[in-house]
Amino acid sequence: MKPLSSRAASIRPSPTLSLNAQLTARRAAGEEVLNLSVGEPDFPMPGLAREYALKAIADGHNRYTDVAGIPELRERVRRKLAEDNGLEYAPGDIVVANGAKHALYNAFLALCEDGDEVVIPAPYWVTYPEQVRLTGAEPVIVPTASKLTARQLEAAVTPRTKVVVLNSPGNPTGATYTRPELDALADVVLRHDLYVVEDLIYEYFHYDDGAVPSIAALGPELKDRTVVVNGVSKSCAMTGWRIGYAAAPPEIAQLIRRLQGQATSNVSVVAQYAAIGAMDDVPWEAIKSYRDRRDVAHERLTAIDGIRCERPTGAFYLFPDVSTVLGGRTADEFCARLLAETGVGLVPGTGFGAPSHIRLSYAVDLPVLETALDRLAAFASG
Ligand SMILES: Cc1ncc(COP(=O)(O)O)c(C=O)c1O
Repeated sequence: MKPLSSRAASIRPSPTLSLNAQLTARRAAGEEVLNLSVGEPDFPMPGLAREYALKAIADGHNRYTDVAGIPELRERVRRKLAEDNGLEYAPGDIVVANGAKHALYNAFLALCEDGDEVVIPAPYWVTYPEQVRLTGAEPVIVPTASKLTARQLEAAVTPRTKVVVLNSPGNPTGATYTRPELDALADVVLRHDLYVVEDLIYEYFHYDDGAVPSIAALGPELKDRTVVVNGVSKSCAMTGWRIGYAAAPPEIAQLIRRLQGQATSNVSVVAQYAAIGAMDDVPWEAIKSYRDRRDVAHERLTAIDGIRCERPTGAFYLFPDVSTVLGGRTADEFCARLLAETGVGLVPGTGFGAPSHIRLSYAVDLPVLETALDRLAAFASG
């Protein structure tokens, strides 16, 4: 038989999704699992989201909608971007997609092609390099302490550089770009005529004062070259509903819309109504409680001999450097043995471009978190 697509075959499976499947299977087999690998909040979805979804079903909303989403949802997103981010978009510049992941893929497809380079700061969310590769472009991984500096971006730029990816607060590091850091990056972006894909999916999980700054909000010349991606998956604990969106300059938004029109059409209409309810009923108290978990998790983790970790300002992960406790093992072996011997599930840093790190999520109950960290401490020192 003729070979299958080499481009598709070059894509690595998501390590976080496969680990989760493995942990779920262990749990189903009756084994104890303390799962700190989760990439989703553990609080319930907003009541209004349920209500709007049920009403959408009762009202008989069962047909195709506009490819880019129902007008009510795009208007709600428009208002959110204006209020939270100081970004003024027309509803036509917003495209609702099947999760932020799909919105990102649309953005890369609209911006990149064979021969282009896309700068991705490492540690990175596992999906960025694979999505970029699917477009034919080449991911250019730039190692950073946790955030890309203007100097690092400048050094990575070549005549082929098309896009830079910014994720703030970031998965896996939880680092948030400050306004001065974005100002410096914006200068490089403008000088080299780059586009920015800005992923703000963890925006509401931010533990310092003030809102998370967006590079698109620094001025019209930045907004004109940035695709802002966000959604309700994390902020409203609705990962299963698959609602994300991209906001972009009109020409890019039109292209994204065209791509989506031939690939998937609109997102589930019931989920779109649910998303409006979610955005009107954001679970702020639950989100705020994650700050305490961060503090507990960070304190206990950094008390373990040999484990170093910056205190993250956002998201719900810790991403410590564990090189001194690996003792010759890879992070993959370390995590596999930790799971086998203690039942604690963590993600090795390998898939995030940081092979001497591990990622743990504190989006779990405090007692589970504490027990898991006790076991990690005993394992690391054993
Ligand atoms: C940085 C980042 N962006 C995007 C996503 C995808 O979000 P969604 O579930 O809305 O597709 C995730 C999910 O883990 C993420 O960590």
